[in-house]
Amino acid sequence: MATRLASYPSLRDKCVFVTGGATGIGAELVSAFARQGARVAFVDVAQAAGEELVRRLACEGGAPPLFLGCDLGDLAALAGAMDAVAAQLGAIEVLVNNAANDQRHTLAQLQPDDWDRLLALNLRPMFFACQAVAPAMRRHGAGVIVNLSSICWHIKSAGYPAYASAKAAVHGLTRGLARELGADGIRIVTVSPGWVMTERQLALWVDAAAVEEIRRSQCLRGRLNPADVAAMVLFLAADDGAMCTAQEYIVDAGWS
Ligand SMILES: NC(=O)c1ccc[n+]([C@@H]2O[C@H](COP(=O)([O-])OP(=O)(O)OC[C@H]3O[C@@H](n4cnc5c(N)ncnc54)[C@H](O)[C@@H]3O)[C@@H](O)[C@H]2O)c1
Repeated sequence: MATRLASYPSLRDKCVFVTGGATGIGAELVSAFARQGARVAFVDVAQAAGEELVRRLACEGGAPPLFLGCDLGDLAALAGAMDAVAAQLGAIEVLVNNAANDQRHTLAQLQPDDWDRLLALNLRPMFFACQAVAPAMRRHGAGVIVNLSSICWHIKSAGYPAYASAKAAVHGLTRGLARELGADGIRIVTVSPGWVMTERQLALWVDAAAVEEIRRSQCLRGRLNPADVAAMVLFLAADDGAMCTAQEYIVDAGWS
Protein backbone atom coordinates (compact mmCIF):
# COMPACT_ATOMS: atom_id res chain seq x y z
CA MET A 1 0.00 0.00 0.00
CA ALA A 2 2.64 2.51 1.06
CA THR A 3 4.50 2.23 -2.22
CA ARG A 4 1.75 3.97 -4.18
CA LEU A 5 1.88 7.11 -2.03
CA ALA A 6 3.39 10.20 -3.68
CA SER A 7 6.55 11.85 -2.37
CA TYR A 8 6.24 15.37 -1.03
CA PRO A 9 9.56 17.22 -0.75
CA SER A 10 7.90 19.88 1.44
CA LEU A 11 7.24 17.26 4.16
CA ARG A 12 10.93 16.37 4.56
CA ASP A 13 12.15 17.37 8.05
CA LYS A 14 8.72 18.72 9.03
CA CYS A 15 7.89 18.19 12.70
CA VAL A 16 4.63 16.23 12.72
CA PHE A 17 2.56 15.32 15.80
CA VAL A 18 -0.11 12.60 15.56
CA THR A 19 -2.56 11.70 18.34
CA GLY A 20 -3.61 8.05 18.64
CA GLY A 21 -0.75 7.00 16.38
CA ALA A 22 -0.09 3.50 17.72
CA THR A 23 -2.71 1.56 15.76
CA GLY A 24 -5.24 1.90 12.96
CA ILE A 25 -5.29 4.96 10.72
CA GLY A 26 -2.99 6.78 13.17
CA ALA A 27 -0.25 4.15 12.77
CA GLU A 28 -0.53 4.48 8.99
CA LEU A 29 -0.23 8.27 9.32
CA VAL A 30 2.86 7.97 11.51
CA SER A 31 4.40 5.52 9.02
CA ALA A 32 3.48 7.60 5.97
CA PHE A 33 4.92 10.84 7.40
CA ALA A 34 8.07 9.01 8.58
CA ARG A 35 8.56 7.60 5.05
CA GLN A 36 8.37 11.18 3.72
CA GLY A 37 11.39 12.01 5.89
CA ALA A 38 9.35 14.01 8.39
CA ARG A 39 10.31 14.13 12.07
CA VAL A 40 7.31 12.39 13.60
CA ALA A 41 6.07 12.18 17.17
CA PHE A 42 2.94 10.44 18.35
CA VAL A 43 0.99 9.83 21.54
CA ASP A 44 -1.26 6.93 22.46
CA VAL A 45 -2.49 4.94 25.46
CA ALA A 46 -1.55 1.70 23.70
CA GLN A 47 2.01 1.45 25.03
CA ALA A 48 3.04 -1.90 23.55
CA ALA A 49 1.60 -1.12 20.10
CA GLY A 50 3.32 2.29 20.10
CA GLU A 51 6.70 0.78 20.97
CA GLU A 52 6.24 -1.95 18.35
CA LEU A 53 5.50 0.67 15.65
CA VAL A 54 8.69 2.56 16.55
CA ARG A 55 10.68 -0.70 16.26
CA ARG A 56 9.08 -1.52 12.90
CA LEU A 57 9.82 1.89 11.42
CA ALA A 58 13.38 1.87 12.79
CA CYS A 59 13.92 -1.40 10.87
CA GLU A 60 12.97 0.40 7.66
CA GLY A 61 16.09 2.52 8.12
CA GLY A 62 14.60 6.02 8.50
CA ALA A 63 14.64 8.10 11.67
CA PRO A 64 12.32 6.30 14.12
CA PRO A 65 9.36 8.33 15.36
CA LEU A 66 9.20 9.58 18.92
CA PHE A 67 6.47 7.80 20.91
CA LEU A 68 5.09 9.09 24.20
CA GLY A 69 2.50 7.19 26.22
CA CYS A 70 -0.35 9.57 27.01
CA ASP A 71 -4.05 9.37 27.85
CA LEU A 72 -5.74 12.20 25.94
CA GLY A 73 -8.48 12.31 28.56
CA ASP A 74 -5.82 13.96 30.73
CA LEU A 75 -5.18 17.40 29.25
CA ALA A 76 -2.19 18.07 31.50
CA ALA A 77 -0.59 14.86 30.19
CA LEU A 78 -1.26 15.97 26.60
CA ALA A 79 0.28 19.39 27.25
CA GLY A 80 3.30 17.73 28.87
CA ALA A 81 3.75 15.39 25.89
CA MET A 82 3.51 18.25 23.41
CA ASP A 83 6.07 20.27 25.38
CA ALA A 84 8.39 17.24 25.41
CA VAL A 85 8.03 16.85 21.64
CA ALA A 86 8.79 20.54 21.04
CA ALA A 87 11.86 20.26 23.31
CA GLN A 88 13.19 17.17 21.50
CA LEU A 89 12.16 17.74 17.88
CA GLY A 90 11.46 21.47 17.68
CA ALA A 91 8.17 23.29 17.21
CA ILE A 92 5.28 21.21 15.86
CA GLU A 93 4.59 22.23 12.23
CA VAL A 94 1.88 19.68 11.38
CA LEU A 95 -0.69 18.57 13.96
CA VAL A 96 -2.91 15.58 13.16
CA ASN A 97 -5.77 15.22 15.63
CA ASN A 98 -6.57 11.56 14.96
CA ALA A 99 -7.38 9.71 18.21
CA ALA A 100 -10.98 8.75 18.89
CA ASN A 101 -13.13 5.99 20.31
CA ASP A 102 -16.23 4.79 18.47
CA GLN A 103 -17.54 2.65 21.33
CA ARG A 104 -21.22 1.81 20.71
CA HIS A 105 -23.96 3.29 22.93
CA THR A 106 -27.67 4.10 22.82
CA LEU A 107 -29.81 7.18 23.31
CA ALA A 108 -31.66 5.48 26.16
CA GLN A 109 -28.66 4.21 28.10
CA LEU A 110 -25.98 6.90 27.86
CA GLN A 111 -25.37 8.63 31.21
CA PRO A 112 -23.93 12.15 31.68
CA ASP A 113 -20.59 10.70 32.81
CA ASP A 114 -20.42 8.55 29.65
CA TRP A 115 -21.17 11.61 27.51
CA ASP A 116 -18.43 13.60 29.25
CA ARG A 117 -15.93 10.74 28.86
CA LEU A 118 -16.69 10.30 25.14
CA LEU A 119 -16.47 14.02 24.39
CA ALA A 120 -13.33 14.28 26.56
CA LEU A 121 -11.61 11.95 24.12
CA ASN A 122 -13.37 12.60 20.81
CA LEU A 123 -13.42 16.42 20.84
CA ARG A 124 -11.81 18.18 23.81
CA PRO A 125 -8.15 17.23 23.17
CA MET A 126 -8.45 18.41 19.57
CA PHE A 127 -9.24 21.95 20.70
CA PHE A 128 -6.46 22.05 23.29
CA ALA A 129 -3.91 20.54 20.92
CA CYS A 130 -4.78 23.35 18.44
CA GLN A 131 -4.36 25.88 21.25
CA ALA A 132 -0.95 24.41 22.13
CA VAL A 133 0.52 24.49 18.59
CA ALA A 134 -0.89 27.86 17.52
CA PRO A 135 1.65 30.24 19.16
CA ALA A 136 4.74 28.67 17.50
CA MET A 137 2.89 28.28 14.17
CA ARG A 138 1.93 31.98 14.39
CA ARG A 139 5.53 33.02 15.03
CA HIS A 140 6.57 30.92 12.03
CA GLY A 141 3.71 32.28 9.87
CA ALA A 142 2.82 28.74 8.77
CA GLY A 143 1.47 25.41 10.00
CA VAL A 144 -1.14 22.77 9.22
CA ILE A 145 -3.75 21.16 11.45
CA VAL A 146 -5.68 18.12 10.23
CA ASN A 147 -8.70 17.04 12.27
CA LEU A 148 -10.12 13.55 11.71
CA SER A 149 -13.90 13.47 11.55
CA SER A 150 -16.06 10.76 9.95
CA ILE A 151 -18.88 10.35 7.44
CA CYS A 152 -20.99 8.81 10.24
CA TRP A 153 -22.94 12.01 10.90
CA HIS A 154 -23.41 12.68 7.17
CA ILE A 155 -24.92 9.24 6.56
CA LYS A 156 -26.89 9.24 9.82
CA SER A 157 -25.28 6.10 11.22
CA ALA A 158 -27.03 4.77 14.32
CA GLY A 159 -25.37 3.21 17.34
CA TYR A 160 -23.09 5.95 18.65
CA PRO A 161 -24.89 9.34 18.93
CA ALA A 162 -22.29 10.92 21.25
CA TYR A 163 -19.46 9.87 18.91
CA ALA A 164 -21.42 11.21 15.91
CA SER A 165 -22.04 14.50 17.75
CA ALA A 166 -18.34 14.83 18.49
CA LYS A 167 -17.42 14.02 14.89
CA ALA A 168 -19.82 16.70 13.57
CA ALA A 169 -18.35 19.15 16.08
CA VAL A 170 -14.85 18.35 14.81
CA HIS A 171 -15.74 20.02 11.53
CA GLY A 172 -17.29 22.93 13.46
CA LEU A 173 -13.97 23.27 15.26
CA THR A 174 -12.11 23.36 11.93
CA ARG A 175 -14.39 26.06 10.55
CA GLY A 176 -14.49 27.96 13.84
CA LEU A 177 -10.71 28.34 13.85
CA ALA A 178 -9.92 28.63 10.13
CA ARG A 179 -10.35 32.39 9.80
CA GLU A 180 -8.43 33.30 12.92
CA LEU A 181 -5.57 30.91 12.10
CA GLY A 182 -5.61 31.71 8.40
CA ALA A 183 -4.66 35.31 9.16
CA ASP A 184 -1.30 33.94 10.34
CA GLY A 185 -0.79 31.52 7.45
CA ILE A 186 -1.98 28.47 9.40
CA ARG A 187 -4.24 26.01 7.57
CA ILE A 188 -6.79 23.79 9.33
CA VAL A 189 -8.82 21.09 7.56
CA THR A 190 -11.10 18.17 8.32
CA VAL A 191 -10.54 14.73 6.82
CA SER A 192 -13.56 12.43 7.02
CA PRO A 193 -13.05 8.74 6.28
CA GLY A 194 -15.74 6.28 5.28
CA TRP A 195 -15.54 2.77 6.73
CA VAL A 196 -11.84 1.98 6.94
CA MET A 197 -10.60 -1.55 7.49
CA THR A 198 -8.43 -1.10 10.58
CA GLU A 199 -7.52 -3.94 12.98
CA ARG A 200 -10.19 -2.71 15.39
CA GLN A 201 -12.97 -2.44 12.79
CA LEU A 202 -12.16 -5.89 11.40
CA ALA A 203 -12.07 -7.44 14.86
CA LEU A 204 -15.23 -5.82 16.22
CA TRP A 205 -17.65 -4.86 13.47
CA VAL A 206 -16.88 -6.11 9.99
CA ASP A 207 -19.03 -9.25 9.70
CA ALA A 208 -20.83 -10.62 6.62
CA ALA A 209 -23.68 -8.10 6.97
CA ALA A 210 -21.18 -5.23 7.14
CA VAL A 211 -19.41 -6.45 4.02
CA GLU A 212 -22.75 -6.43 2.22
CA GLU A 213 -23.55 -2.92 3.53
CA ILE A 214 -20.20 -1.66 2.27
CA ARG A 215 -20.84 -3.24 -1.14
CA ARG A 216 -24.27 -1.59 -1.39
CA SER A 217 -23.25 1.82 -0.08
CA GLN A 218 -19.90 2.62 -1.70
CA CYS A 219 -19.83 3.73 -5.33
CA LEU A 220 -16.46 2.04 -5.73
CA ARG A 221 -15.81 -1.64 -5.24
CA GLY A 222 -13.08 -2.63 -2.81
CA ARG A 223 -12.39 -1.68 0.76
CA LEU A 224 -11.00 1.52 2.21
CA ASN A 225 -7.65 1.04 3.89
CA PRO A 226 -5.73 3.34 6.25
CA ALA A 227 -3.35 4.19 3.39
CA ASP A 228 -6.26 5.75 1.45
CA VAL A 229 -6.79 8.21 4.31
CA ALA A 230 -3.05 8.80 4.74
CA ALA A 231 -2.77 9.74 1.05
CA MET A 232 -5.27 12.59 1.57
CA VAL A 233 -3.65 13.75 4.82
CA LEU A 234 -0.18 13.86 3.24
CA PHE A 235 -1.42 15.99 0.34
CA LEU A 236 -3.17 18.43 2.69
CA ALA A 237 -0.19 18.67 5.06
CA ALA A 238 2.26 19.27 2.19
CA ASP A 239 2.72 22.56 0.36
CA ASP A 240 0.69 20.94 -2.46
CA GLY A 241 -2.37 21.74 -0.32
CA ALA A 242 -1.26 25.37 0.11
CA MET A 243 -4.66 26.95 -0.56
CA CYS A 244 -6.74 24.31 1.23
CA THR A 245 -8.21 25.36 4.54
CA ALA A 246 -11.53 25.31 6.43
CA GLN A 247 -12.94 22.50 4.27
CA GLU A 248 -13.87 18.88 4.79
CA TYR A 249 -12.13 16.30 2.58
CA ILE A 250 -14.06 13.04 2.41
CA VAL A 251 -12.40 9.71 1.61
CA ASP A 252 -15.31 7.25 1.50
CA ALA A 253 -15.39 5.59 -1.93
CA GLY A 254 -18.54 7.58 -2.62
CA TRP A 255 -20.65 6.38 0.32
CA SER A 256 -21.96 9.71 1.69
N1 LIG B 1 -11.78 3.23 10.96
C1 LIG B 1 -12.83 3.82 10.44
O1 LIG B 1 -13.62 3.19 9.75
C2 LIG B 1 -13.07 5.30 10.64
C3 LIG B 1 -14.17 5.86 9.99
C4 LIG B 1 -14.43 7.21 10.13
C5 LIG B 1 -13.60 7.99 10.91
N2 LIG B 1 -12.54 7.43 11.54
C6 LIG B 1 -11.72 8.32 12.37
O2 LIG B 1 -10.35 8.15 12.06
C7 LIG B 1 -9.57 8.30 13.24
C8 LIG B 1 -8.75 7.05 13.46
O3 LIG B 1 -9.67 5.96 13.56
P1 LIG B 1 -9.20 4.46 13.73
O4 LIG B 1 -10.28 3.63 13.17
O5 LIG B 1 -7.82 4.26 13.29
O6 LIG B 1 -9.28 4.32 15.34
P2 LIG B 1 -8.68 3.17 16.25
O7 LIG B 1 -9.64 3.01 17.38
O8 LIG B 1 -8.36 1.96 15.45
O9 LIG B 1 -7.34 3.85 16.76
C9 LIG B 1 -7.40 4.98 17.55
C10 LIG B 1 -6.10 5.13 18.31
O10 LIG B 1 -6.33 6.09 19.34
C11 LIG B 1 -5.83 5.53 20.56
N3 LIG B 1 -6.58 6.06 21.70
C12 LIG B 1 -7.83 5.71 22.08
N4 LIG B 1 -8.14 6.33 23.23
C13 LIG B 1 -7.05 7.08 23.58
C14 LIG B 1 -6.76 7.94 24.67
N5 LIG B 1 -7.63 8.14 25.67
N6 LIG B 1 -5.56 8.54 24.70
C15 LIG B 1 -4.64 8.31 23.72
N7 LIG B 1 -4.86 7.51 22.67
C16 LIG B 1 -6.05 6.89 22.61
C17 LIG B 1 -6.02 4.04 20.43
O11 LIG B 1 -5.19 3.31 21.32
C18 LIG B 1 -5.67 3.82 18.98
O12 LIG B 1 -4.29 3.60 18.80
C19 LIG B 1 -10.56 8.59 14.37
O13 LIG B 1 -10.67 9.98 14.55
C20 LIG B 1 -11.86 8.01 13.85
O14 LIG B 1 -12.99 8.64 14.43
C21 LIG B 1 -12.27 6.09 11.43
